[in-house]
Amino acid sequence: MDKKIPIVHPLIDEYMLALLPKRDGILREMESYARRKKFPIIGPLAGRVLAQLAMIQKPKRIVELGSGFGYSAYWLAKATPSTTKIFCSDGDENNYQKASAYFKRAGMSRRIKYFVGDALDFIDQFEDDSLEFILNDIDKEDYPAILAKAVRKLKKGGLLVTDNVLWSGRVLHRHPAERSSQAIKVFNRVLFTSKSFFSTILPVRDGIAVCVKR
Ligand SMILES: C[S@@+](CC[C@H](N)C(=O)[O-])C[C@H]1O[C@@H](n2cnc3c(N)ncnc32)[C@H](O)[C@@H]1O
Repeated sequence: MDKKIPIVHPLIDEYMLALLPKRDGILREMESYARRKKFPIIGPLAGRVLAQLAMIQKPKRIVELGSGFGYSAYWLAKATPSTTKIFCSDGDENNYQKASAYFKRAGMSRRIKYFVGDALDFIDQFEDDSLEFILNDIDKEDYPAILAKAVRKLKKGGLLVTDNVLWSGRVLHRHPAERSSQAIKVFNRVLFTSKSFFSTILPVRDGIAVCVKR
């Protein structure tokens, strides 16, 4: 197992969390469900980063790869007008069921479509050079493959936002043993060497890569 280290000092994390205004009832319920089930959601600090990027970008469509039970999509939906359509995807039918129930309660069902299946296939349905905002949070082993597809689908100026790019510090290993760590290291290297992107990594929670397509 590759060794982990904290990305953000736990006291700084605690401080930043304490600054956040109280989330609405559905978000708090989702957070407590994730805690109970040990389901890896992006959490409120990264949720606000997504929301802020969506507020700035004002996309007409958002494509989410790895939607889980809808927590990150909920943040994106709250940050954008009802004319913004959100296309979720996840390989697990149970996540779809759970997400649909939350979206229905929040009155978001009409603007959110949820595809059950492999995100690597799902993204193919979109035209090249057409997307303004992609959130990537699928299995880490698939990051290099999804990057190759995402870069084609984004329009110039479009954003690819990716969670977990610091992978609990496992990216520090020179020769990581785990495939997930290896894949994230490849992904990050491409982000910063590709002429197609202007990239930064925000060390929020587990590391968020923000890439603008050039
Ligand atoms: C970290 S969770 C997503 C959490 C979600 N973004 C949130 O913050 O609320 C990753 C999800 O991606 C899904 N997943 C992983 N690899 C996938 C793939 N290749 N295609 C579709 N879904 C995938 C898993 O089923 C899991 O629900």
